[in-house]
Amino acid sequence: MTSTIIKNGTIVTADLTYKADIRIEDGVISEIGPNLTGGAELDATGCYVMPGGIDPHTHLEMPFMGTYSADDFDSGTRAALAGGTTMVVDFALPNPGQSMLDALTMWDNKTSRAACDYSFHMAITWWGEQVFNEMETIVRDKGINTFKHFMAYKGALMVDDDEMFSSFQRCAELGALPLVHAENGDVVAQMQAKLMAEGNDGPEAHAYSRPPEVEGEATNRAIMIADMAGCPVYIVHTSCEQSHEAIRRARQKGMRVYGEPLVQHLTLDESEYFNKDWDHAARRVMSPPFRSKTHQDSLWAGLASGSLQCVATDHCAFTTQQKRTGLGDFRKIPNGTGGLEDRLPMLWTYGVSTGRLTMNEFVAVTSTNIAKILNIYPKKGAILVGADADLIVWDPKRGKMITAASQQSAIDYNVFEGKQVMGLPRFTLTRGQVAVEEGAMKSQEGHGRFVPRPPLTAPAKALSTWKALTAPRKVERTGIPVSGV
Ligand code: URP
Ligand code: ZN
Ligand code: ZN
Ligand code: ZN
Repeated sequence: MTSTIIKNGTIVTADLTYKADIRIEDGVISEIGPNLTGGAELDATGCYVMPGGIDPHTHLEMPFMGTYSADDFDSGTRAALAGGTTMVVDFALPNPGQSMLDALTMWDNKTSRAACDYSFHMAITWWGEQVFNEMETIVRDKGINTFKHFMAYKGALMVDDDEMFSSFQRCAELGALPLVHAENGDVVAQMQAKLMAEGNDGPEAHAYSRPPEVEGEATNRAIMIADMAGCPVYIVHTSCEQSHEAIRRARQKGMRVYGEPLVQHLTLDESEYFNKDWDHAARRVMSPPFRSKTHQDSLWAGLASGSLQCVATDHCAFTTQQKRTGLGDFRKIPNGTGGLEDRLPMLWTYGVSTGRLTMNEFVAVTSTNIAKILNIYPKKGAILVGADADLIVWDPKRGKMITAASQQSAIDYNVFEGKQVMGLPRFTLTRGQVAVEEGAMKSQEGHGRFVPRPPLTAPAKALSTWKALTAPRKVERTGIPVSGV
């Protein structure tokens, strides 16, 4: 059996920092200890060896707003590996009326070129008996334990409260976790129409139509509905204090609620939408929009204090040409930004290097926490014997300026263009295979495999036990008068 040893590095996990070598055999970690010998060596001198990043929120080759996102499972997973991310979780989106199993086949067909491991969330885009029944098959037979709900995109992906409540109750029965895009889609639609009627048709109107209150209200509503349904809930792309506040308050009450800020919201602000260059502003149109520095401070604080758990990208990249569909009507600008390649370097530079996050917190929010939430820990997100050798040898002295010209992503710009980052992978390993070496791509098309995720995490089990214990019960009364007396 061939053996690879990562030598002379400092291992950094979510809870420990220590010096040791790592032996890899058959794509998994087989030994951790000092002075390992007997195998091909990768030199990690001066580097931190960490679990590879897991991005729980990507949209590769996604049909959306009349087009397809430009990065597919080839360029998207290459971008991921280049930046130290070794697993992505994408979204299968059934059309209204379409079987979830058909949608899953369609999404499976996109993945043959994936260079790193991947998994899927299944979206609930409509409701009916078929959806209710298929949810069980998706969970039991297809290895998917998460269901996504869009409270925005009225007339397209949006579901209403009774659909969400029905689906959340089904999630509770199945031990699955609902995910929510939390924005009040009815309010957004009205605000968009008003802005357009007033002649406000540029990309800045996208931000005006989706203020933090729209997100805070929906987050709060989703959390309360989840509590009534008896399931945990995960709020994707938490961008503002209003939403974070709802999550924080719920967690303080003991509710099982998770929040996911994006690296874009942590590091870019709303001033981008006021750029005089239409293309510049439109390239940054995504939902929710970028916010002010005050909101950014809230998100950073949430990561440090533990009220927010994971940093994702929501990678959904559109070319400038695709964005121009919305010239003269901001509602038609395809929503989405890239970030897969830049998530870890940006978070390290703006988080760890500034002292906002410790190295261990960095590992927690980029990998370990989501591995636990998605029920794939310690196969993923860990440096332990038996875990997949999805690893990054992180060189804190390796830097670069982010440019579209040098990125793996297929689009013609980068929202982080010109940012100087310090901290990059010396090596990225996907199940033991070296995919990046000193900045050179060595990834293998088709190396990526689907990662099945079983239901019933420990928090979901605990919550269902508590809900059963505190469920409404009929009061058996005494002293009832005999009828007719
Ligand atoms: O604007 C965004 N976020 N586009 C991707 C789809 C979504 O809402 O996550
Ligand atoms: Zn309804
Ligand atoms: Zn979304
Ligand atoms: Zn998304």
